[in-house]
Amino acid sequence: MLPKIASEVSLPLAAAGGFADGRGLAAALMLGAQAVQMGTRFLASDECHIHANGKHAIIDAGPDGTFLLREGRHYPSRALSTPYTKHLLEQERAEIPAEQRVRSADAQMDGDLEAGMLTVGMSSYLIDDIRPAGEIVRAVVREAVQTLGAAAAYTRP
Ligand SMILES: Cc1cc2nc3c(=O)[nH]c(=O)nc-3n(C[C@H](O)[C@H](O)[C@H](O)COP(=O)(O)O)c2cc1C
Repeated sequence: MLPKIASEVSLPLAAAGGFADGRGLAAALMLGAQAVQMGTRFLASDECHIHANGKHAIIDAGPDGTFLLREGRHYPSRALSTPYTKHLLEQERAEIPAEQRVRSADAQMDGDLEAGMLTVGMSSYLIDDIRPAGEIVRAVVREAVQTLGAAAAYTRP
């Protein structure tokens, strides 16, 4: 959607969803965005106050490590695959109860990944370490600059 939106708006455009490294930033810039917003990447940072279990679960998540939960919600939400979110998916509940907020707290703050729900993106699969946020930003920018520089090779005859 990025090129379409970029050609139709004159506002600065921040792309969000699935960006966790410099190659993603470079790709978003090429598709017409001026920035990326990264959520899950910063969950796996030293400064983020979620429980260490959640940070390690993000690092361990494979390509199928998250679910898109739709039922009974105002908007779809993606969560880490845990026994609880698997249960929600299987039940295809018409309404996800208010207890979900408690379940989120279970996972985020108490590290209970059996009973809890941790909302994370598919970008989990790209994340391999827990680092200070500043280091993450610097590494993303460095890799984006390298990637954009390397892409110039495609313009040579
Ligand atoms: C823990 C967490 C909570 C979030 N809560 C909201 C929210 O309440 N409303 C919303 O629009 N987006 C929410 N997001 C989505 C982010 O704003 C962002 O668009 C998304 O995480 C970007 O994808 P990424 O995680 O792959 O970087 C949340 C993301 C995370 C990781």
